[in-house]
Amino acid sequence: MCSLWRGSLLTLTSSLNRRVFQCCRQFGRSYNIASCMPEAVAFQGVSDHSGLYKFSVNESDRFWGAVARQRLSWISPFHTVQNCDFSQGKIKWFEGGKLNVSVNCLDRHVHTCPERVALIWERDEPGTEVKITYRQLLELTCRLGNLLKRQGVRRGDCVTIYMPPCPLAVASMLACARIGAAHNVVFAGFSSEALADRIRDAQSSTVITVNQGVRGGKVVDLKRTVDQAVQNCPSVQQVLVAMRTENTVAMTDRDVPLEEEMMKEDVVCEPVAMDSEDVLFLLYTSGSTGKPKGLVHTQAGYLLYTSLTHRYVFNYHDGDVFGCVADIGWITGHSYIVYGALCNGGTTVLFESTPVYPNPGRYWEMVERLEINQFYGAPTAIRLLLKYGDEWVQNYNRSSLKTLGSVGEPINTEAWEWYHRVVGDGRCPVVDTWWQTETGGICIAPRPADPEAEIVPGMAMRPFYGIKPALLDTEVVTGDALCISQAWPGMARTIHNHHQRFTETYFQPYPGFFFTGDGAHRSKEGYYQIVGRLDDVINVSGHRLGTAELEDVVVCTIKSHQIKCIYIALRCSAQQLREMVSRSIAKYACPDFIQVVRCLPKTRSGKIMRRVLRKVVERNTDELGDLSTLDDPDSVHEVIRGHRRLR
Ligand code: PRX
Repeated sequence: MCSLWRGSLLTLTSSLNRRVFQCCRQFGRSYNIASCMPEAVAFQGVSDHSGLYKFSVNESDRFWGAVARQRLSWISPFHTVQNCDFSQGKIKWFEGGKLNVSVNCLDRHVHTCPERVALIWERDEPGTEVKITYRQLLELTCRLGNLLKRQGVRRGDCVTIYMPPCPLAVASMLACARIGAAHNVVFAGFSSEALADRIRDAQSSTVITVNQGVRGGKVVDLKRTVDQAVQNCPSVQQVLVAMRTENTVAMTDRDVPLEEEMMKEDVVCEPVAMDSEDVLFLLYTSGSTGKPKGLVHTQAGYLLYTSLTHRYVFNYHDGDVFGCVADIGWITGHSYIVYGALCNGGTTVLFESTPVYPNPGRYWEMVERLEINQFYGAPTAIRLLLKYGDEWVQNYNRSSLKTLGSVGEPINTEAWEWYHRVVGDGRCPVVDTWWQTETGGICIAPRPADPEAEIVPGMAMRPFYGIKPALLDTEVVTGDALCISQAWPGMARTIHNHHQRFTETYFQPYPGFFFTGDGAHRSKEGYYQIVGRLDDVINVSGHRLGTAELEDVVVCTIKSHQIKCIYIALRCSAQQLREMVSRSIAKYACPDFIQVVRCLPKTRSGKIMRRVLRKVVERNTDELGDLSTLDDPDSVHEVIRGHRRLR
């Protein structure tokens, strides 16, 4: 359904479920701040989490300086904690410091616990998982680092990685970090044109891929996609090809058989001493808001921020198995499958399959088999699985679970409650984590490590240490644009080759602040609720409505058809839908037009491309913009055809 909404000011609490959950009771009241965060001992007067949060924002230099010294292994110490100026988009952390990210993620754990499992590769077929220890991962990384050097990759080059989640993909990322190259991981579901765009923008001379991918029981010819892409990428000199399946693929002079060549290399590769602000990676955003941007993340600050959030948001402890089911091609995969988890010496799962392969019990069967302690997934998948009923969950033992995470979009209260009550048996805190590719790591989330923390369903709750949110006036409403008023170490440093676009997008809309592009509300207790992108907002006659809030109402109301298909699986009449929206939000929120469609135009990561819908409604179908990330091109044509009939 594509709709034009009439509306006026949205009230915060209309659909907010005020039930509050106390989390992490297992810590009890005898909790001691120093035993949780060792650095806090040095922060005089800090005795609880709220004191620690205040210290982290008021004494930002002291907080981040202490945490960085304590948590990272440095080759040489930094002299300046931060040197940031939002007016120029200048963000620099830990200047003067030198370190190597792969040493922090591998070598130091190999010294203390070489046989600890670093990666569990959960392959597409259930029960065929492969475990890789820290010692093995370091060896793979070093061999690959040496191979890259032999192939002419140098410090400062950018290597494009087009691989599904697998140990060699992680080793490739870490091998780049080891030798001082940047990586550009492209989600292996992208088309050859989208891949080519990203290779060209990153100017990569080397691409690493696999012969084929395997997902949901289907084989995907990834190498063929790379072959097509590189035809239009003059910078590419070589393609390293790993063998995920036993099927041979056509190899050209440009192609290098990865396993064969890396086995010729030494298992020792000297790590390069990198400056804190050298580039670690580029990551192109999903494109749901326009032409993809290559966001740049650097070494020390990013690593520190991802490891700290991984530890505290998920309450991760040594020995836990961390199960994030995102793809490594997204920021969630980079920050929590790879860098944050490995920096903390964690055991982290690489999920190759889908939530419904071979059946809708896949996630929970995996939780039982791998004894996963923290499960981190997307609301889209939770809503999908909810539809299949509780039995698929209850068939499996989930007693290992301690924390359930959600990311990527607002989680509607019905999905939240199902996740909490059914998946977590009502005993695991659900952490709804708000962040972006731009923020590097989680910025707003409940903190289960804090025994005092409470959680309200559907709310991202509280800012993380060092994050100072501000709600600024939008054109229409007072105090609604989510901004962040001071720098934090994990934030992106620039857009590759487009620093001006970086400052214009993030720092000019609200001078002195980083603008997230999202709308949010703050409750009187100071808790945040994210209401979706401001560019998803429908603004009519001076009134605005957040689409997320509207979807929440509709999803919660139509009990048996909760999925993305609130639009397509609609079994009620348009009039009933209008009444529901009137009842749950207000009369002004009623849609003028309702259009039923088979499916909505979405990116491959599952985000609705609302800007495309808006163009259709505005009758600007010649200006649909970049559609390279679109999952199903027919969905747009269907929306256009249906809209013409409406008029
Ligand atoms: O609109 C917010 C939404 O996802 C956007 C960031 O997308 P991306 O850079 O692809 O990163 C996704 C994974 C971090 C945000 O601007 N978003 C992310 N998490 C949430 C969310 N919206 C509501 N609640 C969340 N927890």
